[in-house]
Amino acid sequence: MHCIKKITEDLSWVGANDRRLAMFEGVYSVPDGVSYNSYLLNDVKTVLFDTVDKAVKQRFLENLEEALQGRDLDYLIVQHMEPDHSASLMDLVTLYPNMKIVCNEQTLKFIKQFNHFEADSRVIVVNEYDTLETGKHKLHFLMAPMVHWPEVMVTYDSTDKILFSADAFGSFGALNGAIFADEVDFFKDYIDEARRYYANIVGKYGPQVQSLLTKASEFKIEMICPLHGFVWRKNIHKFIAKYALWSSYTPEEEGVMIVYASVYGNTENAAEILACRLRDAGIKTVMFDVSVTPASNIISAAFRYSHFVFASITYNAGIFVTMEALINDLVAHNIQNRTIAIIENGSWAPESGFLIRKKFEQCKNIKIIDNLITIKSGLDRNQLLDIDVVAKEIAMTMSPLQEDDKTMFKLSYGLFVVSVKDGKKDNGCIINTVMQITEKNNRISFSINKETLTHDLVLKTKELNISILSESVPFNIFEEFGFKSGREVEKFATFEDKRTANGIRYLPVHINGVISAKVTEAFDYETHTLFVADVTEAQTLSDEASVTYQYYFDNIKPKPVKLTDNQKGFVCKICGYVYEGDNLPEDFICPLCKHGIDAFEEL
Ligand code: FEO
Repeated sequence: MHCIKKITEDLSWVGANDRRLAMFEGVYSVPDGVSYNSYLLNDVKTVLFDTVDKAVKQRFLENLEEALQGRDLDYLIVQHMEPDHSASLMDLVTLYPNMKIVCNEQTLKFIKQFNHFEADSRVIVVNEYDTLETGKHKLHFLMAPMVHWPEVMVTYDSTDKILFSADAFGSFGALNGAIFADEVDFFKDYIDEARRYYANIVGKYGPQVQSLLTKASEFKIEMICPLHGFVWRKNIHKFIAKYALWSSYTPEEEGVMIVYASVYGNTENAAEILACRLRDAGIKTVMFDVSVTPASNIISAAFRYSHFVFASITYNAGIFVTMEALINDLVAHNIQNRTIAIIENGSWAPESGFLIRKKFEQCKNIKIIDNLITIKSGLDRNQLLDIDVVAKEIAMTMSPLQEDDKTMFKLSYGLFVVSVKDGKKDNGCIINTVMQITEKNNRISFSINKETLTHDLVLKTKELNISILSESVPFNIFEEFGFKSGREVEKFATFEDKRTANGIRYLPVHINGVISAKVTEAFDYETHTLFVADVTEAQTLSDEASVTYQYYFDNIKPKPVKLTDNQKGFVCKICGYVYEGDNLPEDFICPLCKHGIDAFEEL
């Protein structure tokens, strides 16, 4: 019996789930199953986006027949020819003889390689940015070569603002009745499988994914329909933010992934002791026995964490087999921008450390900690100190926040643009300190750095707006309103002129609300003024979550560029600007955020 899901008025999911598949692509275990997504657009013309794997073909054909409601199928758009999405193509050719196949030249070659039918007369070949009008809908084709295979293209429906994204934004895991990511707790229950899918399937092709992200950013996207996993219609930016990190090989979080290969437990023992020392230093650790944990899970963790420790015995004068296979896999996936420590073991000729180091020399931007721990059979008592030293060396390559600084970061803040008008001058800056003091006589407080022009203008005019930034806010808003001075630039120059009843501008995008207020009191605190103000107007503009300081650090602020072994440099803790050089001049001012050398730390 058919099992279809409605996505929009015109669009239905006609795919199918497979929970019996043991190994996806013969390599990746899928304990939670996998979905093969296919979508039918019922417009003046009927359009199918891709097909499914042969294992679920029967259900798919029933779904398609039901969704067509007796109509013929006019177009099949083939975005990706890998057989998990194209195995049912021949069936459609037979069942729908009038169907035209829309694809690019490379896809046509693959169609002919995988199938044996006269394809040329049925095919409409499209190129970059070509369009297809199907009645109400206009489809735009964007090439996405190597976002898994060379023929991959994605399709943008400019009528409903839907991106059909092929393998991009996919995930392992069957759908279990839901179709939208917002129907489940995705970032708690599904993100690990989404990361494992990304890292293993397209992780090697980071630059190609980045170029697809850039291309797609030209379009307003309100929904993403991938070939595996959930459809995205809410919080799309959160998932795109993950893709931006993964595809740039930027760690999602600081932490140490410890992978060991140990036959009789002695190498494991050294790895455990190092893990304890790291935890004692407050550093997050995860551990894997490479002979037990599937490689795809370890590859996935490698895309998550900033530091790796490899602990391996020497075996047949080389690296232990499972460890060597894993490292080859990591290198093949283009892993980069990480710090690595190595423990080797060898009862008579320890060699694995040297060989592991050699393998990672092929990767970009990998810092290998010089201190190699060499074990002869079992860790010697004297070597406990060596473990301490390596733990310290790892800790030194992590963010060197003082305990006081760390504690202050535990405070939760929102982020806001406070704006003001003085005569014809509009100005604004980023602040993080707005809070409601009383509800009955609606009153707020906030503080502003005295060095800003906004501070002076609020003090002078006593009227202001607070734009509440939401999670979709891009970094350039912080560059415009946080790092530049209104004394030198017009802060609102590139934004639509929107004002509240008090005549003051507010940020017209990336906010979920705006509050207008009149200052009643101001208190001087050395570097800042604390203002108390009565709320005169408040408007809710969207349901999107407010951005928090933590969210900004985790998802918006660019991560510092790692320098190579021979480079030295300093990173600005405020904005992430990297100064390359051995010494930071004493009078150096960050060109982005204008902070002095106190804001910098050595990379
Ligand atoms: Fe799900 Fe690259 O195919």
